[in-house]
Amino acid sequence: MQDSIALVPTMGALHAGHLELIRRARELSETVIVSIFVNPLQFESAADLSKYPRDLAGDTEKAIAAGATKVWAPNYNEVYPGEIAKISAGAIGEIFEGRHRTGHFDGVLTVVSRLFDYAKPDYAIFGEKDFQQLFIIKKWVKENNFPIDIVSVPTVRDSDGLALSSRNIQLTPAGRRAALIISQALRTGNKEAMLQTLASEPDFQVDYAEVIDEETFELAPPGSQSARGIIAGWVNGLRLIDNMRMGSDQ
Ligand code: PAF
Repeated sequence: MQDSIALVPTMGALHAGHLELIRRARELSETVIVSIFVNPLQFESAADLSKYPRDLAGDTEKAIAAGATKVWAPNYNEVYPGEIAKISAGAIGEIFEGRHRTGHFDGVLTVVSRLFDYAKPDYAIFGEKDFQQLFIIKKWVKENNFPIDIVSVPTVRDSDGLALSSRNIQLTPAGRRAALIISQALRTGNKEAMLQTLASEPDFQVDYAEVIDEETFELAPPGSQSARGIIAGWVNGLRLIDNMRMGSDQ
């Protein structure tokens, strides 16, 4: 606990899920840095980037109340002074989320590497909600022998099952109701039932719904003890993702 630094990288619009990350960070370190930076490199369109919710004053208050000792909201030039040395996520960055969001994970790794360079954390905390992101960051840290512990925190859900996301505030009431089909599908515990459940909601358009092995991110072999359902799709113009360990509700 002594003298270590925990970093919670965020893009702001903090919700209860982020606050769990901050609380976990505070259990690990006395110094908890919460970074808030909406990273243009991980958005595919300027429209999506400009729609992303921003509330620095509110976020700062929430982060401090949850245990942050420093809220760090750098501007673009601080994060990317001069030419950007892009980091490639490789083949894993091109499947599932990566297939639907070209270059997204390269953008994530590039910003995370800049944030790590500045903050020099001993721990970096990420949510399981972005499970492929978590997998890619862990893999990259391991392959490069960075002396940083990547700590993951389970997804926080509303009482009706919807995974918390900064984007949820953009859902209409009807869209929010339709979005509940995602966690309902994940709870069925197998791919066929997942697809059938999703098909029962006409206002949800599936991008993918698969069961992967969480150790490899490949399609889960029959009988896998570490199978995880992953779903992405669209509801009222918003793209939502979620995942769950098969046979659990997390
Ligand atoms: O998960 C997020 O909010 C972002 O992808 C991250 C890790 C802060 C990088 O911009």
